[in-house]
Amino acid sequence: MENIKWGELPFGYFKTDYNVRCYYKNGKWGEIEVSDSEYINMHMAATCLHYGQECFEGMKVFRGKDGKIRVFRWEENAKRMQRSCEGIMMAQPPLELFKEMMIKVIKLNEKYIPPPGMGASLYLRPLTIGSGPQVGVKPADEYLFLIFAGPVGPYFKEGFHPVDVQIVRDYDRCAPQGTGHIKVGGNYAASLNPAARAKQEGFSTVLFVDAKENKYIDEAGPANFFGIKGKTYITPNSKTILPSITNMSLRQLATDMGMNVELRQVLVEELANFEEVGACGTAAVISPIKRIVDRDSGKEYTYCCEGKAGPVSTRLYNTLKGIQEGEIEDKHGWNMIVE
Ligand code: PLP
Ligand code: COI
Repeated sequence: MENIKWGELPFGYFKTDYNVRCYYKNGKWGEIEVSDSEYINMHMAATCLHYGQECFEGMKVFRGKDGKIRVFRWEENAKRMQRSCEGIMMAQPPLELFKEMMIKVIKLNEKYIPPPGMGASLYLRPLTIGSGPQVGVKPADEYLFLIFAGPVGPYFKEGFHPVDVQIVRDYDRCAPQGTGHIKVGGNYAASLNPAARAKQEGFSTVLFVDAKENKYIDEAGPANFFGIKGKTYITPNSKTILPSITNMSLRQLATDMGMNVELRQVLVEELANFEEVGACGTAAVISPIKRIVDRDSGKEYTYCCEGKAGPVSTRLYNTLKGIQEGEIEDKHGWNMIVE
């Protein structure tokens, strides 16, 4: 194995030794297969290639100072994948199959789990695709559920340092009654243009507003948005937002810290009232935001006046990381230890 510079890993694809796969055919899931190939041999009329039958998950595995390997809230990801599959009429991988394949892929790639304290983790990417052929617009008869793994660093190169984001109103990532609440590839395809433009214009990511009224905060790129006002943690609630497992955990941690939690529609104008704002997700963890610019009006909202994350975001971040890495007591039983 080459010498991996754990502390310098980007968030990106990293070739590891094995991935695990399972096919759904004739109405049932088959045997788990271990593969050392990075490629999938697939029918050219597979529905994932034509009609977007694809969904994925993202989850992280950590090695603690105690040497133990921890997976964070895997069951939530497995259940969300089932909801995504249901949402676009794909066969749903059972929770037990998800668990068995996840443990297998972690163990097979154990040497790629970064050592503690490097700001890195082993990222798992489970995906389900329609692999059976169709030409008419209908669901496939065959599916592939696959999990690959690779070590990653922070999603935004800034890590836990504040980033700038841009409000966009001329693109929507999903329709009001569409697929925003599930993790399907099409949502991400729709976000590529505005995200690339935002990067070109000097921003780390985009802040979408709701597609119907254009006035409520939706997703922060590939992450949820949250704001802190006094002793309250506020985060948008909408059918177009992916229910983030990180956000759900932060809401619990905020409650544990004695804060109030509000899960509700959040008007863009409320940005002026927040003391701290951030993006949260598996890849992003917490990305504090220091500046939000409305691309249409030019209006700016600024935070982090000392150039660093605010005290509440910092405490939430440290607590979440501490639990994931086994440094802080896992009171809610979020980690599974892989023996
Ligand atoms: N929102 C979107 C659009 C995402 O892609 C993600 C990433 O998974 C999230 C939010 C955060 O979700 P989670 O915390 O479960 O990773
Ligand atoms: C994650 O946070 O795991 C995601 O899936 C976000 C992104 C990289 C698509």
